[in-house]
Amino acid sequence: MSISNDKWLWWKDGVIYQIYPRSFYDSNGDGIGDIRGIIEKIDYLEYLGIDAVWLSPINRSPMDDFGYDIKDYRRIESIFGTEADFDELIKKFHDKNIKIIFDLVMNHTSSSHLWFVESRSSKTNPKRDWYIWQKARRGKYPNNWRAAFGGRAWEYDKITGEYYLHSFLKQQPDINWRNKELRDAVFEDIKFWLDRGIDGFRLDVVNWFIKDEKLRNNPYMIGYSPRVYDMQNHIYDRNRPETHDVLKDFRKLLDNYSERMSVGEVFSPPPGDPRLSSEFLGNGKDQLDMAFDFSLMYVKWNAKTFYKKISNWLELIPSGGWPCHVLSNHDQPRQASRFYKKNYTDERCRILAVLLLTLKGTPFIYYGEEIGMRDGKISRSKLRDPLGKKYWPFFKGRDPERTPMQWKNADNAGFTCGVPWLPVNRDYWKRNIDKQIHEKNSLLNLYKYLIELRRKEYNLRRGEIVFLEKGDSGVLSYMRGDEFEIALNFDNGVKQYFPRSHDSEIVFSTEMFSKVTESKILQPYEAVIIRHNQQRNS
Ligand code: GLC
Ligand code: CA
Repeated sequence: MSISNDKWLWWKDGVIYQIYPRSFYDSNGDGIGDIRGIIEKIDYLEYLGIDAVWLSPINRSPMDDFGYDIKDYRRIESIFGTEADFDELIKKFHDKNIKIIFDLVMNHTSSSHLWFVESRSSKTNPKRDWYIWQKARRGKYPNNWRAAFGGRAWEYDKITGEYYLHSFLKQQPDINWRNKELRDAVFEDIKFWLDRGIDGFRLDVVNWFIKDEKLRNNPYMIGYSPRVYDMQNHIYDRNRPETHDVLKDFRKLLDNYSERMSVGEVFSPPPGDPRLSSEFLGNGKDQLDMAFDFSLMYVKWNAKTFYKKISNWLELIPSGGWPCHVLSNHDQPRQASRFYKKNYTDERCRILAVLLLTLKGTPFIYYGEEIGMRDGKISRSKLRDPLGKKYWPFFKGRDPERTPMQWKNADNAGFTCGVPWLPVNRDYWKRNIDKQIHEKNSLLNLYKYLIELRRKEYNLRRGEIVFLEKGDSGVLSYMRGDEFEIALNFDNGVKQYFPRSHDSEIVFSTEMFSKVTESKILQPYEAVIIRHNQQRNS
């Protein structure tokens, strides 16, 4: 049964780090992070030990949605740098064996993309059908669809007197994946990046690509919020079965290259929809390599809930498929803020680090997570996110989780020598990378240690996962392969814990506790990794 010969595969065995380029490091003082900034911080990424970076979009964009509105899929946005900067980034990262993942925003383009400019110019333009155009129905909107970012999903365009569909902002018209020429054009753009050396793609809102052919009205339902958008059951504007055909073609394209990876953002409103996410893995080989399940972004701090969400997600992965895990990203409050608990937030962050890096599945780390960055407090006048501007004060938008990386205790946390595009979180003087590099027991060095251990230990990467304690007592524990036993005390109380083997040793503990014998005491919020000795030699 030993599969220990499985070859290292970067996106299965490695750790992936998400960079939000605007906020990582600014090399030229304009207050906006850039490609040269990322290059300058390569030593840090190497120190941390990650294997790949996923860059939120850096293509040409008017920035209505900060890059998630692309104007030219083949060019680099000048705010972020030049084409040469980007080629240098690929070269330098590849030299250090760090892979580069691009964000593919393919549900929509920017309204300033030339395709759209042509498409809107006349009803007979050859690219007319590359977007979704409709005439008014009985003098009104074509149907009842709403935009996720507020208002109707249909925007009236004077030039031709028709409406176009936009699932997000009106500056983000949805492209028509049912049109073969459009599909070919998008695939050509993807090929362009594959040929230029991109190792993988994160597919933005992959479950939204195809819309109902008849554009039927969504039925209404009781939603999780009083917003009309959330009171519709989105069976016609999302999750259409035809999307899977697109992904099968996409997969064939990727499979022409060696070791290229895809991960899908399957976005549905809280609390995450793991079953839906797993559908995008197809039979485990014919669609996406991985898909995000956002369940853990919406749960309360509770060992049992974590157990349920994680085990459910893992069970849904088709055989031959591979899971991944994510705790934070550029759209959701940071984990340190979500799981905030006075005096114990750092302990909780440690538990999360051990969990993320010992689960079966590829870990995704969001920049700043490794130093426990909190959401920033942004005053109304400093808001940048269009969503925050629209829904303030009910929803403050996504700026809080996008504040600049906290490099050191210096002006603007060492992120820029200019004025940062978003204010730096005020806690930077006590929470920053420079400080944590020098503290042996910092959260940062915990991430570093765990990433290293994971790299060394086959069973922490590929070993099967079997749950032991399922959270009833506040403890979550599991085996990885027959070698590692991981126990996490989610509680603020002391717990007795019986390792499943008498002959075992503690490899690691957040408390650096004594040797395990028959039973052990787990301190409040302690996480331990135990190694079973006898199996090791068998
Ligand atoms: C995805 C992105 C988000 C963006 C949206 C529209 O959810 O993660 O940042 O605003 O798609 O492209
Ligand atoms: Ca800059």
